[in-house]
Amino acid sequence: MVTELKKGVYWVGVVDWNLRRFHGHELSTHRGSTYNSYLIRDEKTVLVDTVWEPFAEQLIENIRQIIDPAKIDIIVANHSEVDHSGGLPSVMRHCPDATVVVSKRGLESVEGHYHQPWNFKAVKTGDHINIGANDLVFVEAPMLHWPDSMFTYLTGHNVLMPNDAFGQHYATAYRFNDQVNQEELYEEALKYYVNILTPFSPLVLKKIDEVLALKLPVDIIAPSHGAIWRENPIQIVEKYRQWARQEPEPRAVVLFDTMWNGTRRMAEVIAEGLADGGVDCKVIQVAVSDLNDALVEVSRARTIVVGSPTVNGGVLASVTPLLESLRGLKFKNKQGAAFGCYGWSGESVKLIEEHLQKCGITLVREGLRCKWQPRAEELDSCRAFGRELAAATKGA
Ligand code: FEO
Repeated sequence: MVTELKKGVYWVGVVDWNLRRFHGHELSTHRGSTYNSYLIRDEKTVLVDTVWEPFAEQLIENIRQIIDPAKIDIIVANHSEVDHSGGLPSVMRHCPDATVVVSKRGLESVEGHYHQPWNFKAVKTGDHINIGANDLVFVEAPMLHWPDSMFTYLTGHNVLMPNDAFGQHYATAYRFNDQVNQEELYEEALKYYVNILTPFSPLVLKKIDEVLALKLPVDIIAPSHGAIWRENPIQIVEKYRQWARQEPEPRAVVLFDTMWNGTRRMAEVIAEGLADGGVDCKVIQVAVSDLNDALVEVSRARTIVVGSPTVNGGVLASVTPLLESLRGLKFKNKQGAAFGCYGWSGESVKLIEEHLQKCGITLVREGLRCKWQPRAEELDSCRAFGRELAAATKGA
């Protein structure tokens, strides 16, 4: 259902209730998503972003509720990833002479996706396009989260459309932040930040300062996924500042996988030691848990404890996606340790330690290994290990 944000400014996007994996199969989306597209009626008619291609006809129908799609003069493609640009070919069939406004890097990426000789106009930070009573103002936002990413601001109505920034994969019956469950909203906003924006946190802080310095009045922040921030929209900007600082809580997370439960026993007793030492923690067996949810726990925790038995001179394959995510997401201000059982060669703990260090995670102490199944005294060592980690977590 089309929703009016401000007079003449409409949400014409779609709600994808059933999306469960995103970016191929990389990201879990337990609560679906929305693809937000905005139609602006002024002397010129503007569409800001489209939707994922399977929903393109629904987008056209939504636009048709307001205006004949042939009357669109300008389409802004803030970012070329196909969840936002996938509807472009369908829309352009209705208005082939429309101007497609992109960032400089968007020229390359939008053309690269669709190979069409559309009437492109590349803009840079500070450029304005007059559309009648109001202007569109553009702010390049490279690496938030692609090199081509851009924000579009509508003067007069004071609507900031920052594409993926400030979004959430969250399908809802209502469009605005004040209408939805606040706990779910922030769970999804944080999960989105952790899994997509964490590596770019220094740029997030700079971009927020840059946008605030423009002193543009902001009544609404309308991202390209999830709820639209109309009630105190700056609340999500402040949250992004907080998340981008990556100041961890004095808590820990123990992430492991196991073959015959020896490493599982170690994980559980290390967690008991952490709790004895007054540090709350989560224990997550990565092979049977959602990686993206686990990474949210990683983002919160000061201490990251990773365990794997040794197999074929390395770690269990099920632990590898976690290690790869720790590398790619470039978490800051973390300390860690490793543990694991072994029977013969026993390399896993050393390999995990080396990997944590390469990820910029400081080792609190030497890792803990148990040969075969842990004996009672070795479980005592695990508990002591947990207590040491607790002291380091509180004292860091
Ligand atoms: Fe970067 Fe929502 O796509």
